[in-house]
Amino acid sequence: MDQQKATNIVKQATLVSRQDRERLHNCRSFTLWFTGLSASGKSTLACRVEKVLHDKGYPTYILDGDNVRHGLNKNLGFSPEDRQENIRRLAEVAKLFRDAGVINLTAFISPYRQERDFARSLSEDDDFIEVFVDCPVEVCEGRDPKGMYTKARQGIIKEFTGISAPYESPESPEIHLHTDSQDIEQCVEQIVRYLIEQKLIPR
Ligand code: ADX
Repeated sequence: MDQQKATNIVKQATLVSRQDRERLHNCRSFTLWFTGLSASGKSTLACRVEKVLHDKGYPTYILDGDNVRHGLNKNLGFSPEDRQENIRRLAEVAKLFRDAGVINLTAFISPYRQERDFARSLSEDDDFIEVFVDCPVEVCEGRDPKGMYTKARQGIIKEFTGISAPYESPESPEIHLHTDSQDIEQCVEQIVRYLIEQKLIPR
């Protein structure tokens, strides 16, 4: 689905650049790409980190799998091809947000290494930070906040990640969290510390 279909299209230049927008917002724009199993903590952590960054005065936006699948990606399901297209589109949306000078946090399972690498390939320098929200499937299944694992075990939900569909763990994520042993505060602190160390935010 990612081949170039349209012909006779020419890229249009703008008078305001990404750097101009970043200067106006007084911040660098980047993507925090959370990846992990359902119920591993991606959305919770993205929300908590967004709040910290927002309170520091930075423009932020969260792209969350469940939300985006109600709108932009409502025509996609969970087959390997649809997940691939889901992530391809969202990698492009994240890039648009970076170009808009906005810090964006994405919370998609994004189970395939190839698609996450594609998302990274659209980035520049250090503006794409992969956050592996690592949690054993047994622990996620024990949490089961939406009752999805139960339904997956019963065969009501097919191709469920971790149960009947694969999850390919990141090999070298910028940030590796263990949400079965670290609490939310520790995870948020680890992420914020990384952003400060990398000079993506000043303090
Ligand atoms: S992804 O695999 O394409 O990255 P995405 O993050 O957008 O997935 O959506 C995952 C969310 O959809 C889960 O949190 C869960 O609530 C819901 N969901 C419904 N069916 C499935 C399924 N078969 N596999 C995984 N998640 C599912």
